[in-house]
Amino acid sequence: PEAQKIKIRDATEHRGKRIKVSGWVHRHRVQGKDIAFIVLRDGTGFLQCVLTGKQCHTYDAITLTIESTVAIYGVLQVVPEGKTAPGGHELQADYWEVLGKAPGGDEAFGNRLNTESSPDILLDQRHLVIRGETASSVLKMRSLVLKAFRDYFDSRNVVEVTPPLMVQTQVEGGSTLFDFQYYGETAYLTQSSQLYLETCLASLGDVYCMAESFRAEKSHTRRHLSEYTHCEAELSFINFEDLLNFIEDMIVSVMERVTNDPLGSQILKELNPDFKAPKKPFRRMNYADAIKWLNEHGIKKDVLDEQGNKIGEADYEFGEDIPEAPERRMTDTIGEPILLCRFPTEIKSFYMKRCPENRQLTESVDVLMPNVGEIVGGSMRITNFEELAEGYKREGIDPTPYYWYTDQRKYGTCEHGGFGLGIERFLAWLLNRYTVREVCLYPRFMGRCQP
Ligand code: 4AD
Ligand code: MG
Repeated sequence: PEAQKIKIRDATEHRGKRIKVSGWVHRHRVQGKDIAFIVLRDGTGFLQCVLTGKQCHTYDAITLTIESTVAIYGVLQVVPEGKTAPGGHELQADYWEVLGKAPGGDEAFGNRLNTESSPDILLDQRHLVIRGETASSVLKMRSLVLKAFRDYFDSRNVVEVTPPLMVQTQVEGGSTLFDFQYYGETAYLTQSSQLYLETCLASLGDVYCMAESFRAEKSHTRRHLSEYTHCEAELSFINFEDLLNFIEDMIVSVMERVTNDPLGSQILKELNPDFKAPKKPFRRMNYADAIKWLNEHGIKKDVLDEQGNKIGEADYEFGEDIPEAPERRMTDTIGEPILLCRFPTEIKSFYMKRCPENRQLTESVDVLMPNVGEIVGGSMRITNFEELAEGYKREGIDPTPYYWYTDQRKYGTCEHGGFGLGIERFLAWLLNRYTVREVCLYPRFMGRCQP
């Protein structure tokens, strides 16, 4: 009889019918001499298949190896009471074939990978690790999250653009630029597409992009990558309050889209059962109050001597960057999302607009999440030509290659602002992962550029 070729995801609709499924042997168990159980994986789900009697021996199901590819034909049956199988059904095979046999013995899949492998070995074997249940759930969630962001922007009529990633300008400081030779000239891998998004406002209205950003981060931390997916947006004719509201609404709405998706809510339950979706409005806190908070809670910085040895402790002072560790301690203690606002000009980028009420401060915001810390950085942008020139000067930036950015202030300037959200940090928060490396397909960080 005919067999319809299906993906495991759609199996339920085909119960009682003869089907063909192809996939990888995820698990394999033999009962006696004549029964083999295979849990088949095709990327869309898992399906238990039962091979009995003659079917067992046509291709030798008894010595089948994990991660071999097979095609199995048969009728899909609901499992009897008391038995469990993924999806509540199993395939009674009437024919099957091996498409690609994986090695056994020393080279067996299980010997390449085991749960005790060091993180470094697991990263070397990442192309095999992603076949595992946790890693593939994480990657499926990554896909759902990207889609949820796109759907959100779409619902707010924000237009997607794809800016160049090879550039000749910096956005977030020279120290983390990757440079390379571009037909005899020096070029960089982009740190942020923000400046290009700003040029699109007069052409397309509000815009966003989902693009890779690159940072030559010279330290190993839980949340820094050399290449990451950056979700950035730029909005015209808004004020700072509008910007904060947009970011908050986006995060809450993306979460709703993810939890309303059956696969999304299932993965969330599996990987982060205690997750509580954030509610509007988020707690708002000024940078100055964060410094106060750290001091009141006895969170101090180390004082080092010239050799870098710790010789004491001191309070954080206004004007200093709040490093990753104290930022995380504060966020974890408060235990909810924080919109941290109004950072001092000196520690922020050249393009940030100053606060009208206090010119020492900028209309800037970081979104902090428990377990990760900063997941979003954003600000209102300088609209004034002279003020921008001052910004270049303060940062020691040669304005020449920025002529196209400066032109935006000449030909019809406008109040505008935007932000960048690190997709990996968002996922690490959402799925409660220890590091952002776990939510990348193939993470890039200092010392690793393969697979
Ligand atoms: O705070 P950042 O540096 O801000 C910008 O790049 C702005 N130009 C964005 C904008 O306004 N359009 O980076 C924004 C976000 C951070 O909050 C963080 O989530 C993520 O990008 N990020 C990183 N993620 C992983 N690894 C790194 N090395 C990251 N650096 C920044
Ligand atoms: Mg930042």
